[in-house]
Amino acid sequence: MIASLMMCLSVVLLLIGMLGGIVMGIQENFVLAPAHAHLNLVGGVLLFLFGLYYRLIPAAGRSTLAKAQGWLHMTGAILFPAGVALVVLKGTAFLIAPVLGSLIVVAAMALFVVIVFRTAQA
Ligand code: HEM
Repeated sequence: MIASLMMCLSVVLLLIGMLGGIVMGIQENFVLAPAHAHLNLVGGVLLFLFGLYYRLIPAAGRSTLAKAQGWLHMTGAILFPAGVALVVLKGTAFLIAPVLGSLIVVAAMALFVVIVFRTAQA
């Protein structure tokens, strides 16, 4: 369940990120390139890979830890790039958003390390 949600959100974020890349190219304005890059990589690529791991090893995907990891990463994968975009466009008054977003993503990654170490031999 959490894996499906993660993969569905991932492809939507990747589509938004790619469309954003096309808009940047058309406007010849690349200030949002870091937000684009992090949305695609953290929100698109990583989220999909996590979902695939949970599908490959269902016992890992069913765990409470995986649910916590999934929700944390989904939250951070949106907050982090959105926060980067806010800081780039509106200034450092919004710094709390990417700082919080990045910490949430790192916390989710730390949980994923534990999950993989517990289940990779399955
Ligand atoms: C339709 C697809 C895409 C388009 C049109 C697009 C467009 C762009 C553009 C215009 C830039 C800025 C280049 C510059 O600063 O000179 C960029 C940077 C970047 N893109 Fe994409 N992109 C696409 C897909 C992706 C995907 C799928 C990923 C990763 C999974 C990705 C990762 C990056 C990265 C890492 C950068 C560098 C960011 C930086 O220098 O701060 N892009 N892209």
